[in-house]
Amino acid sequence: MSQLGVDNHSNPLRDPQDRRMPRIAGPCSLVIFGVTGDLSRKKLMPAVYDLANRGLLPPGFSLVGFARRDWAHQDFAQIVHDAVKEHSRTGFREEVWNQLAEGFRFVPGDFSDDDAFERLRLTVAELDEVRGTGGNHAFYLSIPPRFFPDVIGQLKAHGLAEADGESWRRVVVEKPFGHDLASARELNDVVSQVFPPEAVFRIDHYLGKETVQNILALRFANNMFEPVWNGRYVDHVQITMAEDIGIGGRAGYYDSIGAARDVIQNHLLQLMALVAMEDPINFEAGSLRIEKQKVLASVQLPDDLGRHTARGQYAAGWAGGVKVGGYLDEKDIPSSSTTETFAAIRLEIGTRRWGGVPFFLRTGKRLGRRVTEVAVMFKKAPHLPFTDTQTEALGRNALVMRIQPDEGATLRFGAKVPGTAMEIRDVNMDFAYGGAFVESSPEAYERLILDVLLGDPPLFPQHEEVELSWQILDPIIDYWAKHGQPEQYPSGIWGPKSADEMLARDGRSWRRP
Ligand code: BG6
Repeated sequence: MSQLGVDNHSNPLRDPQDRRMPRIAGPCSLVIFGVTGDLSRKKLMPAVYDLANRGLLPPGFSLVGFARRDWAHQDFAQIVHDAVKEHSRTGFREEVWNQLAEGFRFVPGDFSDDDAFERLRLTVAELDEVRGTGGNHAFYLSIPPRFFPDVIGQLKAHGLAEADGESWRRVVVEKPFGHDLASARELNDVVSQVFPPEAVFRIDHYLGKETVQNILALRFANNMFEPVWNGRYVDHVQITMAEDIGIGGRAGYYDSIGAARDVIQNHLLQLMALVAMEDPINFEAGSLRIEKQKVLASVQLPDDLGRHTARGQYAAGWAGGVKVGGYLDEKDIPSSSTTETFAAIRLEIGTRRWGGVPFFLRTGKRLGRRVTEVAVMFKKAPHLPFTDTQTEALGRNALVMRIQPDEGATLRFGAKVPGTAMEIRDVNMDFAYGGAFVESSPEAYERLILDVLLGDPPLFPQHEEVELSWQILDPIIDYWAKHGQPEQYPSGIWGPKSADEMLARDGRSWRRP
C-alpha cells in the first residue's frame, strides 16, 4: 500500500509507481538502544536478518548495538547470531550472515554516559567511511520510555540527531507512547524538540501485519463491501485480540500498564480506525492520518462506564493442556496487584456512517486461544419469508477478518440445509492467505524496519492519533481506578463473566472464535 509517498532520496533508482521493483533501502545503518532486550532478540534482529536474506538491505548496511554490557563486537555478533537462528522467519544462509555480520558494531555504555555517546558518534562516522552508510542512520529506542529524554538529549548533544545535506537521521519509538494523555504530550515534546515530525517513526507493529493492511485492500479495492459498511446494515463490530500466553517475564513492564494501555490504546484503536474510516484520497501517510484521526476524534464513550466496560485478571487454570498459576502468582507481581489482564470496552463513533453502531473491543491474556480478528456483524434481514423453526439455526451474517493466526477472511451467511424441508443454517465462505498466495507473509517488523530505512511513513501512527487514543482511554482507566477491582477469571476461558454480561445487556454476545 505504500508504494506512494516514499522518500526517493533513499534510493534514486526506485520508481515508486512500479510495483515490480523491490523496495530496497539505500545506504544506511540501524542503531538499536536496548539491544539486549526481549524485543530486540525476538523481533528486531531476526527481522534485520530476514530483510538481508531477501536482498532488501544495501550491501554496506550496518547494525549497531548499544547497551550496558561489557561486550566486544564478536560477543554482540554471537548474540545476534543466536537470536537469528532461533527466531528468523527465513532460512539461515551462511553467505548472507557473513556479509551482514561485517557491519555489526557494539557500543558499550550507559544512557547518561557522555563517553559512550562519543564512542557512538565515532562508530557512526567510521561506518560512513568504511561501509558507505552515507550519513544515514536510524536510532531505534527499544527501551523503557523513562530513558527517552536521556537518549534523545545525548543524540542531540553529540551531533547524532542532525543530518548533513542529503543524508538523514531518524528516530524509532516503540510503544507505550506515554502512560496517559499528559505523559504522551510530554514524551512528544521531548522527541519533537530534537527530531522533526518526518524523522519520527512510532511503531505500532499491528500496522505492519499483512492482514491489517488487508483491511484497507478489502474495503477499498472492492465494490461489494462498502455499500453495506454502515449503520443501515451493520449491527455491531467486535474486535478481539486474545492471547493464550500470560505475561511471561514482563512483570516489570506489564504490572504498571495493564491490558487496556498495553494493546487497546494502540493496536485495537488503530484496527478500529482502519475498519471505520472513510476512504483516503490516496495511501500517503498524511491522507491516511486525516481519515484515522476523524474516526478517533468522533469516538463517543458510553455514559455509564460501569455497565459498558469490563476487566479481569487471570487466575490459575489451564493453558494448552497444562496447569498454570494466576497473574498474582507470576514472578515479581505483588499479591495486591489490581492490574487488569483482560479489558473490554464499548465505543460508538458519532458519524453519519456509524451512528448507533457499537464497536466492542476486547483483549486478554491467558484466554482460550490466540486469535486476533475483526468481526463485522450484520443486522438480520428485515423480513424473513420463512417460519421461525426454519431459521432457528440462522445467525447474523458476518464478515470476519482474521488477523492471526490462520490469516484470511470468512463470510458467514445462511444457506439451505440439503433435504426435503426448507431449513436454513449458517455456512462459511473462506479466504485463507496460505491457500491463495504462494508467498509467505513477512513479519510485521520486517515491513516496518524496511519502511523506516526507506523513510516511508504510512504505517506509523502520528502523534495526533496517539493523543486521541489516550483521550478515549483515560476516562475509562480513571473510572476503573476509582471503582472496584478486576474480576478474576480462570486461565483458559474467554475472560470474566462481567464481559459476557456487558454484551448481554446490549442484547448481543461475544463470538467464540
Ligand atoms: C505487544 C504487547 O504490543 O503485542 C504484548 O505489548 C502482546 O503484551 C503483543 O503480547 C502481541 O503481539 P502479536 O503480534 O503476537 O499479536
